[in-house]
Amino acid sequence: MMRTIHKIMMTVVCVASSFTVQAQTPGALHVLSDNHAFYRLQQKHKFLLLPIEEKEENAHLRIIKNNQVVKELNCRLAINKTDYSVPLKLDENQDSEILIDITFSNNRRSTGSIKDFVAWKELKTSDSFDTTNREKYRSIYHHTPLWGWMNDPNGMFYKDGVWHLYFQHNPYGSQWENMTWGHSTSKDLVHWTFEGDAIRPDALGTIFSGSAVVDKNNTAGFGNGAVVAMYTSAGASQMQSIAYSTDNGKTFTKHANNPVLTADIPDFRDPHIFWNEDIKAWNLILAAGQEMNIYSSKDLKHWTLESSFGHGYGNHDGVWECPDLMKLPVNGTGKEKWLLICNINPGGPFGGSATQYFVGSFDGHKFTCESKPETTKWMDYGKDHYATVTFDNAPDNRHVAIAWMSNWQYANQVPTMQFRSANSVPRDLGLFTDGGETYVSVVPSKELLALRGAKTGKPTEACELVINIKSQSKPTVITLSNDKNEQVVMTYNPKERTFSMDRNQSGNTAFSDMFKATTVAPTHGTINQLRVFIDKCSIEAFDAAGKMAMTNLVFPTNPYDKLTVKGTARTVIYTLK
Ligand code: FRU
Repeated sequence: MMRTIHKIMMTVVCVASSFTVQAQTPGALHVLSDNHAFYRLQQKHKFLLLPIEEKEENAHLRIIKNNQVVKELNCRLAINKTDYSVPLKLDENQDSEILIDITFSNNRRSTGSIKDFVAWKELKTSDSFDTTNREKYRSIYHHTPLWGWMNDPNGMFYKDGVWHLYFQHNPYGSQWENMTWGHSTSKDLVHWTFEGDAIRPDALGTIFSGSAVVDKNNTAGFGNGAVVAMYTSAGASQMQSIAYSTDNGKTFTKHANNPVLTADIPDFRDPHIFWNEDIKAWNLILAAGQEMNIYSSKDLKHWTLESSFGHGYGNHDGVWECPDLMKLPVNGTGKEKWLLICNINPGGPFGGSATQYFVGSFDGHKFTCESKPETTKWMDYGKDHYATVTFDNAPDNRHVAIAWMSNWQYANQVPTMQFRSANSVPRDLGLFTDGGETYVSVVPSKELLALRGAKTGKPTEACELVINIKSQSKPTVITLSNDKNEQVVMTYNPKERTFSMDRNQSGNTAFSDMFKATTVAPTHGTINQLRVFIDKCSIEAFDAAGKMAMTNLVFPTNPYDKLTVKGTARTVIYTLK
């Protein structure tokens, strides 16, 4: 899928460059001190390509036009060598003069003469930015940013046949910084097109995680069917702001009276808004320290604090982040219960980031957990499943979740350069009971079936393994390997009711000493069919019936092209595209 997009992007780039001036060194350097310089250029082209050196520290750039700062950003401007370039979009009014004020971090003073920094030779202007994929580990059918860093999925909604996925994006480098909402769309939930950056930092701060709703009844007064996004403005403090879109999420106008919600709590973020038909009003749930605050509103602008949930409940070994709250049917009972999603970092079952959840009741004012406070439930038992939230307004009352496939323990170090991180495949959520407790069920969304191509005899870099387990009397051991003796071993043990994945010998694990792991999940009964999605550097294993999910990254030197399945099972492999 991304291959298709890259091909299209390449075409765009080629066409554009045939009538534009080739990239060239464009401006003049004025050294002002050991760590401070001006770079002055005449604006002639759409982009200034900034050369980035990953291991360097951030420099602070202020883009000045006519004595006014028009943009500020941090990037690891190249000092010794250029790893890759990122595009700084210059404004439309051509032929104006631009001054870039650049401050390197103070301890750069020992680097030597600022005038010799590589950046000055490699800054280029251009009318195009080449996003052709240069990455061995870029996913084929998972959403990835075309360039730059990505973390949490944000503001996901469905409207008029299109799925919208925003994401925490750094457009100026492949490590976390300059938080901006990138935007991608899909007509089928599996093939994504990058639409550009939708919400950019402003005087209130950078744009942290949040959500978006379709305001069908114009409760906010921004227009019928306007898309209203709520995000955290992360300045000196964290506060909540809103922005609306009347062009189906393509562009947003920030509300003039932001912020709409403040508090004197340091960790106060990641608002998730949703229409609650039970009370005919909006609810908002957000992370407030070690609890989730719940609010209500009639107009999305004025919010009343209703209650807080979480004190003494579940895991508190890290920061509570990125909540979601929804009503779901409990399989086979005709009843409904509420699911409260609470992402936590660190504190996950195998270290670092993970998604815990609570099941209970919610009356629009207060969430009551039905389990004992000491009960902790995890949505996915892998190491690379975080910031999970669902789409607003999904058709057929579906609750479709997407996670960020990484872990804050090593997300900035994984071995890619042009981009960092992919999202999980979409998953439909539900509830089921086992031993008197209600758990979340996680099933790969039906749209993934459309990716299936030909059946194949051996695994490929992008494929799905369907393993039908014919006997529950002994373990099923699934080993993926390659000619470099790299392997991933998955074991379903029916007696112990567990599924595990061992990635200790999976390939490149050296970039972080927290990467090697064997992750283990409870299966809540028997698994009759396993579905395993492989895509370059990720493995997502599911009980097809939804009782177990496990997501782990792997970085094999060569794709795993060998599969052995021990036990009594019938395996089918589909190539995915
Ligand atoms: C979770 C998180 C959020 C925050 C965002 C910043 O991964 O820390 O709490 O809004 O990332 O990028």
